[in-house]
Amino acid sequence: MSFMRLDKMLSSMGIGTRNEIRKACRDNRIMVNGTIIRDPSVHIDPDIDIVSLDEEPVLFTRYVYFMLNKPAGTISATSDSRTTVLDLIDCSVKGLYPVGRLDLDTEGLLLITNDGPLGHQLLSPKNHVEKEYLVQLKTEIEEGNLEPIRKGIRLNKDETCLPAEVRITGERECRIILQEGKFHEIKRMFSAIGNEVVYLKRLRMKDLVLDESLAPGEYRELSEAEIAGLKESAH
Ligand code: URA
Repeated sequence: MSFMRLDKMLSSMGIGTRNEIRKACRDNRIMVNGTIIRDPSVHIDPDIDIVSLDEEPVLFTRYVYFMLNKPAGTISATSDSRTTVLDLIDCSVKGLYPVGRLDLDTEGLLLITNDGPLGHQLLSPKNHVEKEYLVQLKTEIEEGNLEPIRKGIRLNKDETCLPAEVRITGERECRIILQEGKFHEIKRMFSAIGNEVVYLKRLRMKDLVLDESLAPGEYRELSEAEIAGLKESAH
């Protein structure tokens, strides 16, 4: 048994903001077990109580959100003969999946959740969700060579990348911010300017920053503020 506020349950199911839910309560549109509820702060057990809006039941799924520091050598998939990122998460909730893919040898921030709508919004190309990476390169980088990447580099006759922000942080190291997620995008961008990525780590996805206290392979649940930030930035 686990109680939660009615407005929290409804907003986590995407029914509306807390204000919209308060108004729906005032307008007698919300029922719990067949009784109209005018106070959005009442506590309910979403696994047992039947909540409805305009007489339509609102089905509850308990969403979970984990930040994983993906280690190299794990695959960003839900099932595979090799170790997947889900094998690292000790949680029996069904429907978990990684939001986006990192290459087998890439480390860093990976969001794992069962919240399909949120993942969909974060991955939708039209939302241009920023992703920041630490890149280490085989040979020295020079400002002059980065121009094509900053402008939007053409990878082949069918694929051109969106402009990316790049900041040099060492002789062979930089930070790059992408607005999209093409296959092997960063590796192909640097290969197109004659360099080679030797290490890649995702540090940030929109406002969600990798918790540096997590060693590769470790994970933790997101805080309420981190979840709220992601949902906001996904709109
Ligand atoms: N770009 C790459 O080349 N690989 C990743 O894993 C992510 C971005």
